[in-house]
Amino acid sequence: MKKIQIIDAKKHVGEKVKIGAWIANKRSSGKIAFLNLRDGSAFFQGVVVKSQVEEEVFAAAKNVTQESSVWVIGTISEDARSKFGYEIHIESLEVIGESVDYPITPKEHGTEFLMDNRHLWLRSSKQHAVMQVRNEIIRATYEFYNQEGFVKVDPPILTGSAAENTTELFHTEYFDRDAYLSQSGQLYMEAAAMALGKVFSFGPTFRAEKSKTRRHLIEFWMIEPEMAFMDQDESLEIQEKYVAYLIQSVLDNCDHALDVLERDKELLKKYTELPYPRVSYDEAVDLLKANDFDVTWGEDFGSPEETFIAEQYDKPIFILNYPKAIKPFYMKPHPTREDIVLCADMIAPEGYGEIIGGSQREDDYEALGKQLEAFDLDMKEYEWYLDLRRYGSVPHSGFGLGLERAVTWISGTEHIREAIPFPRLLNRIYP
Ligand code: 4AD
Ligand code: MG
Repeated sequence: MKKIQIIDAKKHVGEKVKIGAWIANKRSSGKIAFLNLRDGSAFFQGVVVKSQVEEEVFAAAKNVTQESSVWVIGTISEDARSKFGYEIHIESLEVIGESVDYPITPKEHGTEFLMDNRHLWLRSSKQHAVMQVRNEIIRATYEFYNQEGFVKVDPPILTGSAAENTTELFHTEYFDRDAYLSQSGQLYMEAAAMALGKVFSFGPTFRAEKSKTRRHLIEFWMIEPEMAFMDQDESLEIQEKYVAYLIQSVLDNCDHALDVLERDKELLKKYTELPYPRVSYDEAVDLLKANDFDVTWGEDFGSPEETFIAEQYDKPIFILNYPKAIKPFYMKPHPTREDIVLCADMIAPEGYGEIIGGSQREDDYEALGKQLEAFDLDMKEYEWYLDLRRYGSVPHSGFGLGLERAVTWISGTEHIREAIPFPRLLNRIYP
């Protein structure tokens, strides 16, 4: 007899098959038991009819507890009433591992309780759907960059210096010296771009940021493309093409997950239409002022400001050319305006906030040296980075997409903690 996964049920209609599964949920009467089976690939219904099976099989179905693991044997049939479309008529059921007093029951639980049980909460249908969307975004990322001729490069996690804000560094000991967990692979990706042209990274990054919002993780995964011989405008074109590709891939390959998440697919479809609007920081400040926001030119936007600007459009937008003073040392100033830099943040619609930060990089040796000094950075630590401007410097640009921000938005999840299997938050490193 064939052992199959639930996701492949449609290929086996009318066949007798064996499936290893867990009991996600169950209801039964004196004559019939409905088992909601899950095996990791999907969820579907198993039906046990008392009059059609041996007595002990029906008894086992009635007594089996939530999250017990089982082997079932039965025949696959179509089930027009369920969204999944198929079910199994069980004739034999064998318990593999019993589950006693499973803590997560179908009733409502508080978030802290669910987070304490994250290792079990991951089994729930909504969490399962979010992880499928996450997986699809990762898969589509590799596909997109491979199609576009990028090479995947892995920057180090342990570093000797800051890539972004020095106040958010995670410190650790590196034998007899100090080291930090990577905040961004960008500086190394710039070196890689000078060796391989167009490159991208995908890896964990760390911010020792005391932010407790629905958008901040302490440990998050970032995709960081870097392109030699490309200016900021060309980089923006790659960014919007990439994000539209991610959304189309999720629409194409996660249809059922989007149903489970009750995500509006028509809205997602809209986000695949290019180009995305471009709004300058100056225009954004004017717009905010005209709408009674208390903003001053030169300050960063908070999330209410970002959300307001994004709400003026029905797609993701770029906010361009922020003031130099609030951006990192490596950004290239605007050619005709010393006070702003060639950068952009992509802001997702529906209040999800910044999902991409990117810029053209300072490629001039003298200017970069001055910036390092102005930011009070230890020149010795950045000699290798300055070398990229000593030996055949070229215009180059890149950006970073926060994977969990993208997952939260595309799956329509409320809080970023559900976009990563085991979130590291300000108050949480368990489980
Ligand atoms: O804007 P950020 O800090 O940019 C950089 O790190 C650049 N070095 C990237 C580059 O140009 N290669 O971070 C990039 C993105 C943000 O837009 C956001 O999506 C995400 O990373 N991000 C976070 N996601 C979750 N939790 C946090 N604490 C995050 N901080 C940034
Ligand atoms: Mg940013």
